[in-house]
Amino acid sequence: MPTETHPEMTVRKPNFGLNKDSMPVHYYMDNPVITHLLNSFHVVFPAGEKFFIRAVNRYAAQLNDPIMKERVKAFAGQEIQHMAQHQKFYETLRKQGFPVDDFAHEYEESAYKTVEPFVMKLFDHLFGEGKGNAIALSVTAALEHYTATLAEVALNHPELFENLDEDMVHLLKWHAAEEIEHKAVTFDALKAVDDSYAMRAAGMVIGSLALFWYAGLNMAKFIAYDKHINWSEMPAKTAKALPKLAALGWELVATLLPYFKPDFHPDQMDNKELAQQFFKEAEHYFTAKAS
Ligand SMILES: [Fe+2]
Ligand SMILES: [Fe+2]
Repeated sequence: MPTETHPEMTVRKPNFGLNKDSMPVHYYMDNPVITHLLNSFHVVFPAGEKFFIRAVNRYAAQLNDPIMKERVKAFAGQEIQHMAQHQKFYETLRKQGFPVDDFAHEYEESAYKTVEPFVMKLFDHLFGEGKGNAIALSVTAALEHYTATLAEVALNHPELFENLDEDMVHLLKWHAAEEIEHKAVTFDALKAVDDSYAMRAAGMVIGSLALFWYAGLNMAKFIAYDKHINWSEMPAKTAKALPKLAALGWELVATLLPYFKPDFHPDQMDNKELAQQFFKEAEHYFTAKAS
């Protein structure tokens, strides 16, 4: 049920060819650190997306607006596809010698079997029954702002995808474009059930800590298990990548921070064109993959 403010969200079911022997271990510009940051996203995203769906679905019965219900359904449909496609890359990571299933299992045990119930119970206890569900949705809305921000910055810099495996490029850009398409869904759901600024800001603080901790931890695990890193080359590779990374870092921070403005809404981010442009340009790729 699309409206002018919320155009139709399509649940696409691509089939990326990500299980391949030809993928170099350091597939991102021959840089192990950035490659393992991306690898940590392949681990962190799927269970994170499951958490997002869980958080918003707790409120499914309370969302009376039929448009909102449709948007939540499409949001969950898109996230389920993201999960499955990122996990397809695990086969390649296994072949490369990384115990990625162990990493994913340890992350789920810690983040979603320990930290998530603890934080939810703490909020129920401190602020009243129901606030645990609200903080889970608020963390989700905040992390959705992160993914939309990452998406906007990535799609604005096509040079970041140069010399990268074609299927990996399309996985990352497809995920980015859909994050932009559904960027406002969980934010609007949160507003419908708990409109307080304190709850929104708390979600951003907790979500940020969790994201940096688990992405950093998984990146460190990939690096620790990587037998192919030539450490003597690392200072030169780091020095080469640093100016670009610093510039991108500032851009990310500048795009993230408006979330703390009291009147912020994800639709204020002018990035819908980027997503539409990608789907238009990549149509031939998806048609070829479907046949
Ligand atoms: Fe996603
Ligand atoms: Fe998302």
